[in-house]
Amino acid sequence: MLVRPRRNRKSIGIRNLVQETSLSVHDFIFPLFLTDGKNIKVEIKSMPNIFRYSLDNLLLEIEDCLNLGIYAFALFPHYEDAKKDKLASESWNENTLYLKAIKTIKKQFPEVIIMTDVAMDPYSSDGHDGFVEDGKILNDETLEILARMAVAQAKAGSDIVGPSDMMDGRVQFIRQELDKAGFTEVSIMSYSVKYASGFYGPFRDALDSAPKSGDKKTYQMNPANSREALIEAELDTKEGADFLMVKPAGSYLDIIKLLKDNCNLPIAAYQVSGEYAMLKAASQMGWIEYEKCMLESLISIKRAGAKIILSYCAKDFAIYLKKNNL
Ligand code: PBG
Repeated sequence: MLVRPRRNRKSIGIRNLVQETSLSVHDFIFPLFLTDGKNIKVEIKSMPNIFRYSLDNLLLEIEDCLNLGIYAFALFPHYEDAKKDKLASESWNENTLYLKAIKTIKKQFPEVIIMTDVAMDPYSSDGHDGFVEDGKILNDETLEILARMAVAQAKAGSDIVGPSDMMDGRVQFIRQELDKAGFTEVSIMSYSVKYASGFYGPFRDALDSAPKSGDKKTYQMNPANSREALIEAELDTKEGADFLMVKPAGSYLDIIKLLKDNCNLPIAAYQVSGEYAMLKAASQMGWIEYEKCMLESLISIKRAGAKIILSYCAKDFAIYLKKNNL
């Protein structure tokens, strides 16, 4: 045998030399859930060790993460049904929980990067990402609402707005409205390629944001399609996005690779709530080792071509690095 691939695996030193992909805390955005009240920290049933925090406890959690080297966060608000309406009007109310929290976080930790979510679902009485009339999601009417929400978030101090709604034309519309309002420096991370996925279930528990009727298949993509991903990515690039995101991550590694090979913007991938829940549940049953499988799932997302990973494992990953002096 002239060629023996095992030579390059013979010791930890050699394995480290030939390792092609690595992960750093700088690759991560950690999603956090905000709720109203004081001294609240409620575990989400389907997401062990992930909590809904009131602002006071959220600030402590952010401080904890900063000490571990994580400084980028995707913040999602949980609202009571009483605050929800058809227009998601709470989302641009200047005194609303979410916007006040962004202001406080940025004041207390100016170095933190806050990504805010642009979609109607946490504030919508219909539980959809867009405006619903006669059972239909109206695209162009939704754009006005999304842009108002994005400008309000920018005003509150958001660094990156993340449209997760999948309406057509929203990146351009939001970009124009942000610029008109003077927020040319606020970035857009577009949820460009977002599939209609069963893996969002635990997130909808976290926010009580499941659709009241129907599903999201008229706006989120069909998991069977990949060529459509390129249409979405090209549009968002032309419309002024700063980052392109693929969501979910684990079942869509081919899509991440497709974007990496065809687009020049930085690629992000969202390892979503259901992916996290599966890792945690199987390890709680004693069927897999959480840490090993977490590392493997994360490195595969990076290997596929994502530079940025949104993941509920972000803090566990940072703790792992610290524990092992890496
Ligand atoms: C909705 C939104 C969802 C997620 C992020 N933003 C759920 C959905 O589209 O129904 C899911 C994230 C996760 O599952 O972790 N705008």
